[in-house]
Amino acid sequence: MMTKNVIVLPGDGVGTEVTDAAVRVMEAVGELYDVSFNLERYHVGGASLDEYDTPIKDEVIEACQESDAVLLGAVGGPKWDGNTGDKRPEAALLALRKELELFTNLRPVKVYDALVESSSLKPEIVQGVDILVVRELTGGIYFGRPRFTEDLPDDRRAVDTLEYKTSEITRIAKVAFEAAGSRRGRVTSVDKANILETSRLWRDTVGTLATKYTEIDFEHMLVDNCAMQLVRYPKQFDVILTTNMFGDILSDEASMLTGSIGMLPSASLGNGTAMYEPVHGSAPDIAGKGVANPLATIASVAMMFRFSFDLEEAAQQIEQSIENVLNNGVRTGDLTDTDAAVGTDEMTEAILNEFQQHTSVAT
Ligand code: IPM
Ligand code: MG
Repeated sequence: MMTKNVIVLPGDGVGTEVTDAAVRVMEAVGELYDVSFNLERYHVGGASLDEYDTPIKDEVIEACQESDAVLLGAVGGPKWDGNTGDKRPEAALLALRKELELFTNLRPVKVYDALVESSSLKPEIVQGVDILVVRELTGGIYFGRPRFTEDLPDDRRAVDTLEYKTSEITRIAKVAFEAAGSRRGRVTSVDKANILETSRLWRDTVGTLATKYTEIDFEHMLVDNCAMQLVRYPKQFDVILTTNMFGDILSDEASMLTGSIGMLPSASLGNGTAMYEPVHGSAPDIAGKGVANPLATIASVAMMFRFSFDLEEAAQQIEQSIENVLNNGVRTGDLTDTDAAVGTDEMTEAILNEFQQHTSVAT
């Protein structure tokens, strides 16, 4: 029996509901694969601001650093929208990414056959889409200094700084090329090299590295074109490699190919402890109602088994369960317009039920 220490950071809004659901799945799968969990829960984001006047306490970051993996729900909400700078709930996420050095953000965008009708795009456009967005997560305009707002005599001015170093670009690009090698072998590197200095460095660096991966089919693409191609012909993409902010925007766009942003998981990886979270936010409009789609967080737990526990089979079992449940027609409200939508608990039970069926078949 192996024991894993997992930090659970539910955060705000639907964060609590979806992490509760995902923890149930985590424990059930753990039982099948002889993994037991030591769980510690801490407040982050708005919840932490309310309690401690800081979006994340240092001791929470330290606990995360010492753990085997971190599961995060979502942060933010209207209550804290007026907060600025370090008092914003989102500052917790940025601190975690920075302190854990999570420079890689993997966002798989997979369209399940059962959901092709749920997308806002035509079924023939989205069917079979399977994209991995590799987003740089600890650099770029999210972290560049200086950043400030100042009063001018007759005006007001704000400044953010966009910077990238070759070393930061190289390490994330390697991740993308390696990932493509075990997928369909295609990398699209996305930048704005017709305008930005940082993008020209990005393009040079990635382009040079690409010559070493001769088996990879490689191309550069401008970000505006990529945004358009994602809705025109998304099947052209395998791995999309891009900067922090472009990755943020393109992954939200790509999520709608799958039918709902409630379907998209993510893994944030560095050289130490990794963090797993759904791509969707805290969804304050539906928080506390028990209707949130837990599948993105459950799929994030699958990624945790894959990348942090090296249990590929367990990861695949979770992913297969999601597919089966969708094939059986189980839908949360974000995936259907009909009255037949189930809540968070029923969706989670449906997933858990898949494991029971699996074990009873196996034994
Ligand atoms: C995401 C989110 C975050 C980001 C916010 C909440 C800070 O949108 O993970 O995509 O911009 O990175
Ligand atoms: Mg985002």
